[in-house]
Amino acid sequence: MGKINSRMILPGRFITFEGIDGAGKSTHLKNFVQVLRMRLAPLGLQVIDTREPGGTPLGEKLRTLLLHETMHLETEALLMFAGRREHLTRVIEPALARGDWVVSDRFTDATFAYQGGGRGLSLDKLVTLETWVQGERQPDLTFLFDLAPEIAARRMARTRFPDKFERESIIFFARVRAEYLRRVSVAPERFVVIDATKSVEAIALQILDELDRSKIPAL
Ligand code: TYD
Repeated sequence: MGKINSRMILPGRFITFEGIDGAGKSTHLKNFVQVLRMRLAPLGLQVIDTREPGGTPLGEKLRTLLLHETMHLETEALLMFAGRREHLTRVIEPALARGDWVVSDRFTDATFAYQGGGRGLSLDKLVTLETWVQGERQPDLTFLFDLAPEIAARRMARTRFPDKFERESIIFFARVRAEYLRRVSVAPERFVVIDATKSVEAIALQILDELDRSKIPAL
């Protein structure tokens, strides 16, 4: 099958990885992207491996500010969405329009979880920003790495230079986790919740299994 044919058949897909700091999502994201690339390359499709905050040159500058500068809670939320606007326009939407797949290390669920759940910003304000910046766009599939904050804290103790968020308390992360789980209860069809206490091998297998079983067209 030629390149052009496969692009006409398969729509681009948007997959996100989420979870509290220390849940291990970044390790799995790398493995997942590798497998996905192997599967999609024969179809002439690319996998865009990206992240938030970040994903564009401007977004990466905003990331440095967001992770290291103290700022008003609403400034923080607005900058998250400003970076997202840029990310959607320059990276995510063009890739999906080409039929390519996008895998993002965090997206809007993180803003609801951290700025909303963790810091207590009104969810209504976040919904307004979400609609403004994204319109109807939502990830097709979200892997949520779920873990008790006490366990995550023990794992993170190994991090040498924790950023602004990683220095937050267990109580903060308990609120972040609760908001992630509330998001799952509102849109269960979009999420796969992963028990992040399982072994790396078991989780890697579960992710691929879920991908095969998800409503995303078979590869
Ligand atoms: P993270 O994704 O954990 O990167 P790393 O693995 O390199 O530490 O770090 C990003 C941090 O940004 C994380 O603590 C969560 C936070 N964050 C928000 O508070 N709101 C958001 O909308 C996003 C995307 C991230």
